[in-house]
Amino acid sequence: MENLDGKSALVTGAASGIGAAIARRLAAAGARVTMADIADQTGRELAAELGAQARYQHLDVGSEEDWAQCVADTCAAQNGLDILVNNAGIALLADIFSTSLSDWENIMRVNATGCFLGCRFGLEAMREQGGAIVNISSIAAMAGLAPYPAYSASKGAVRSLTKSIAAACRDGGIPVRCNSVHPGAIDTPMTRGIRIEGGDDIENAIVAGMGKPEDVAAMVAFLVSEDARFINGAEMLVDGTLCMG
Ligand code: NAI
Repeated sequence: MENLDGKSALVTGAASGIGAAIARRLAAAGARVTMADIADQTGRELAAELGAQARYQHLDVGSEEDWAQCVADTCAAQNGLDILVNNAGIALLADIFSTSLSDWENIMRVNATGCFLGCRFGLEAMREQGGAIVNISSIAAMAGLAPYPAYSASKGAVRSLTKSIAAACRDGGIPVRCNSVHPGAIDTPMTRGIRIEGGDDIENAIVAGMGKPEDVAAMVAFLVSEDARFINGAEMLVDGTLCMG
């Protein structure tokens, strides 16, 4: 287990699935964790389960005002910010013909804009003292997925934003690392919803390569630890070979 004693972490989308597992894992490694989400009741309950090491805060990742408040409150409550995990995301199972403009804008707002705002506010808080940012992308950023054009595009934005931030930190001498994690199919409420609505092919593909939220959390914990000090701008697959086809 990594040693994150005394580190201050902020995890978005922490009220469910992968985000909840990440928050648990970072807290178990010694970090103080702000669990941020729009699902306030579940988020509060999960933070209470983690005890004094965790706090919950409402954060709609698409809102600039929410980000300003959340980062300021996190820094005040946890004495700064060392670790940011941009995990909040939504999926949409809709091919290109049935994706409306508002579908596209909605998914971009949460997955791409949410990550952009998180990186900007997070970097501002970390630029002097240093830190680590992990952005949760997807294998959808590597391979085009016909049933998920908007989702895939939003996760592609997360992938290249991550690399741009890593390069900017390197060039600007900012001691912050920024990496992306690309899960394959992970058993969470998100994929359970898709399995109910989706066809047999999708269901079979998901079941064949299914991982657990803890598999992704372990990668995140490594990336934010000192052991990963030389890893910056990388894209880490956690997909049980699903991406290989
Ligand atoms: P989930 O649906 O279980 O959890 C997502 C969380 O994000 C929920 O708690 C939800 O309330 C929160 N959220 C949604 N919109 C938000 C907003 N505007 N502001 C703040 N929070 C918001 O999903 P899951 O599976 O845990 O996904 C987590 C991340 O992992 C997402 O970015 C997803 O795209 C990504 N991912 C998931 C995979 C999977 O197979 N489950 C595969 C690849 C990537």
